[in-house]
Amino acid sequence: MRLTAILLLLTVTGMSIPAFADVDATKGKVLHDRKCVSCHAERFGGDGSKMYQRPDRIVHDRDALDQRVATCSAMTHTGWFPDDEENVAAYLATRYYKFSQPVVPAPR
Ligand code: HEC
Repeated sequence: MRLTAILLLLTVTGMSIPAFADVDATKGKVLHDRKCVSCHAERFGGDGSKMYQRPDRIVHDRDALDQRVATCSAMTHTGWFPDDEENVAAYLATRYYKFSQPVVPAPR
């Protein structure tokens, strides 16, 4: 019964079991704040979060977010592993983008 619910959730969110178990938006926030804020803030001022909230933002779904995080990460030479990028994407998804099916709860 419980397994059915989990499998259903995984199907709905399109996630694999290991990714679901490992994703940590709190770790993602730490990484994001360390490497990603300064450049976005240069453009928009403040904490740079307007990048994710501007009316003409370019990311509209989770796939596009994953790709954009990977692109910006490569451009910035973060040296992050795919897990790190996933954590950052989870943070941005829950804090700013709020797609219809968030993957993990937002960090407090
Ligand atoms: C050197 C500057 C720079 C750094 C550092 C940078 N970004 Fe970006 N980022 C940009 C620019 C420029 C855009 C806007 C691209 C556009 O509008 O076409 C952008 C856009 C984005 C978007 C899409 C915003 C939208 O419109 O929805 C995301 C998500 C993002 N960046 C994530 C990150 C992450 C995660 C990091 C840290 C690894 C990071 N960025 C570091 C320059 C940077």
